[in-house]
Amino acid sequence: MPAPERTSAWRELERNREEVAARSLRQVFADDDDRGRKMSREAAGLYFDFSRNLVDETTVGLLADLATECGMTDRREAMFRGDLVNTTEGRPALHVALRMPPERSLLVDGVDVVREVHRVLARMSDFSDRVRTGAWRGATDRPIRSVVNIGIGGSDLGPEMAYRALEHYSLPELDFHFVSNVDSTDLSRALDGLDPAETLFVVCSKTFTTLETMTNARAARSWLLDSLGGGDESVSRHFVAVSTNADAVSRFGIEPGNMFGFWDWVGGRYSIDSAIGLSTMLAIGPDRFHDLLAGFHDVDEHFRQAPTGENIPALHGLLAVWYRNFLGARTQAVLPYSQYLDLFPAYLQQLTMESNGKRVDLSGRPVEVDTGAVWWGAAGTNGQHSFFQLLHQGTELVPADFILVARSLDPIGDQQDLLVANLLAQTEALAFGRTAEEALAQGMPGELVAHRTFPGNRPSSTLMIDALTPRSLGALIALYEHS
Ligand code: F6P
Repeated sequence: MPAPERTSAWRELERNREEVAARSLRQVFADDDDRGRKMSREAAGLYFDFSRNLVDETTVGLLADLATECGMTDRREAMFRGDLVNTTEGRPALHVALRMPPERSLLVDGVDVVREVHRVLARMSDFSDRVRTGAWRGATDRPIRSVVNIGIGGSDLGPEMAYRALEHYSLPELDFHFVSNVDSTDLSRALDGLDPAETLFVVCSKTFTTLETMTNARAARSWLLDSLGGGDESVSRHFVAVSTNADAVSRFGIEPGNMFGFWDWVGGRYSIDSAIGLSTMLAIGPDRFHDLLAGFHDVDEHFRQAPTGENIPALHGLLAVWYRNFLGARTQAVLPYSQYLDLFPAYLQQLTMESNGKRVDLSGRPVEVDTGAVWWGAAGTNGQHSFFQLLHQGTELVPADFILVARSLDPIGDQQDLLVANLLAQTEALAFGRTAEEALAQGMPGELVAHRTFPGNRPSSTLMIDALTPRSLGALIALYEHS
């Protein structure tokens, strides 16, 4: 496989960059009033409008050629097949198997991993139903009211992000807490006011050796036993584990029946839809958890089958290559206009930066291109009143993903209209700017005009979903995984 910079598509993209630079977004929209339609794709409940990017149709075609020359389609198929695409650990990267429907089958080392996945899902569902209905009792025969997820990285960010995103669907009788930091303040705050007799700890760790998680889990166990006594018997009513390491779980004192397993072919940052999502299932219930998995699977099918030029995750990822390597963008902003998605940028930081934070290629040779950008962001409209100034008027080029959720789950007056109007206005202002003439025409004093103009030509994409549901959240996450 050629290094990307040695492909002919790469060389042509370097030429295309000059053509694109010669025409502003203002100009290209004025020249083609169909650009918005031509540069939008819809699939799996996602609407992706990339018309406000610094690209023309040639760029899009060349980026698709680049993917072909770099063997993207073969690599994608190898991943879906369960080949050992994780070469440094000699493993498949099979998060897509976590959301395959039960009628599918995928053999890894002679084992049908889809059957294994559904076996664990069935145990998770049974356990979740018992906790949610109060059938599961604590050591003093009280039902569970509080769930504390202990984990870090992928074993925390996914569960907490998903809980916050889907809080609307969460069972009101249960409250949820997330502990990750080894700073004791994190655990102490989470436990403050909780009744040990009604508290369930979900200890999430792929390896079950991570310092922060094991330290917090031990401290939580002491907190429980100091109050309830009862040793292992109490632990078995108040602690469950999610891990790939059964020996370490049992050494900790959690019995095998209280462990929900997953597999070494699930990367930590891709584990939200494995048993690591147990707290999510406890919150929203098994049926909605299956809807979440269906959303992931919708996008998996789209990503696997759609031609590159129509393929939303592929186009999204290729745009990242374009900005990083051809236009010198060092960062990527993600701006969800939904309070429910306030942790989504932090979740994506691990997903993207742990994946693409690399300086060598698969064979260990230093790369000669730029790899992943720095990802950051915050929920809109809050960001508008803090860092948007730099996006509009600073000297740094920052491509931005705006995430638009069309319908509010908690409508009050016209606030949803205001929210959406803000998003649309920001993407317009970034793209088209405000010229000196426009500033003057709006009555700006002459001496302030330079300060009040916006150059425009600042790129953004808009990703729209209809409403925040388990299924649309699954689709949104899968898009970024594949990107
Ligand atoms: O330090 C990075 C990391 O290994 C992540 O990839 C992972 O999500 C996190 O630590 C937690 O690991 P574990 O689930 O094994 O506790």
